[in-house]
Amino acid sequence: MGIETDIANDWHAALAALAWQVELGVSDIVGETPLDRYDLPEPVKPAPPPPPQRASAVAPMPEPVAAAPDAAIHAASDAANRATSRDGLRDALAAFDLCELKKGARNLVFCDGNPNARVLVLGEAPGREEDLQGRPFVGAAGQLLDRMFAAIGLSRNSPDPATALYITNVMPWRPPQNRDPSPDEIAMMRPFVERHITLVDPDVIVVMGNTPLQALLKTKGILRARGTWAQALGKPVLPMAHPAYLLRKPEAKREAWADLLSLQAKLRG
Ligand code: URA
Repeated sequence: MGIETDIANDWHAALAALAWQVELGVSDIVGETPLDRYDLPEPVKPAPPPPPQRASAVAPMPEPVAAAPDAAIHAASDAANRATSRDGLRDALAAFDLCELKKGARNLVFCDGNPNARVLVLGEAPGREEDLQGRPFVGAAGQLLDRMFAAIGLSRNSPDPATALYITNVMPWRPPQNRDPSPDEIAMMRPFVERHITLVDPDVIVVMGNTPLQALLKTKGILRARGTWAQALGKPVLPMAHPAYLLRKPEAKREAWADLLSLQAKLRG
């Protein structure tokens, strides 16, 4: 790599890191005049957080998930496992009529990004914008997702697998009023999600939010699970808070940044 490319990369990385700081709410830069911190009033100490539950210190405790009707799950498994390519899987989903959500959706939302990417991001379900455009994560949460991953040099638009993202959702159809998908709906779509991941064969999976956590790791509680690497389909899985949650709770972006750095370290390691 030439010096000019290094400088250009550093410049983009610096800009992305700066954008991330602004995203976190940083509004001031450090002044040039030294500050005597011993002269400042004692900061008010926030109340200590409740102690973490012992059992979840290593991995989140699985909670039982209600089963979907077996016939629908079997039909989904058959259809998914017959697909030998991503196009075949998309066709299989388009032909699958047992999920009620399909009836209310305008479009099937299948994927975006680079199918050769090392990182696969698994989201929950399309919202209004995604339903209209037929692409995942194109609304406000998607724009934050793009900025988050740009901060560690990853993009859905990158042609280079090392810096690319592949993005898909557990649910390919928008739930009415953006409600959470039910455990039955998640169980019904799980065979398609697993087949999708097998066909794309990424090095690392990032699950964003409760729905993909439930679909892939069969546990609930993303805020407990986030940041702790797990394993599914023989691949490392990093649970993270959903960007829509980060839009509502900007204070959680600090943890999201830690998770992104952990992902970056995994990719480098
Ligand atoms: N939220 C998701 O989880 N996926 C999308 O595609 C859009 C919003």
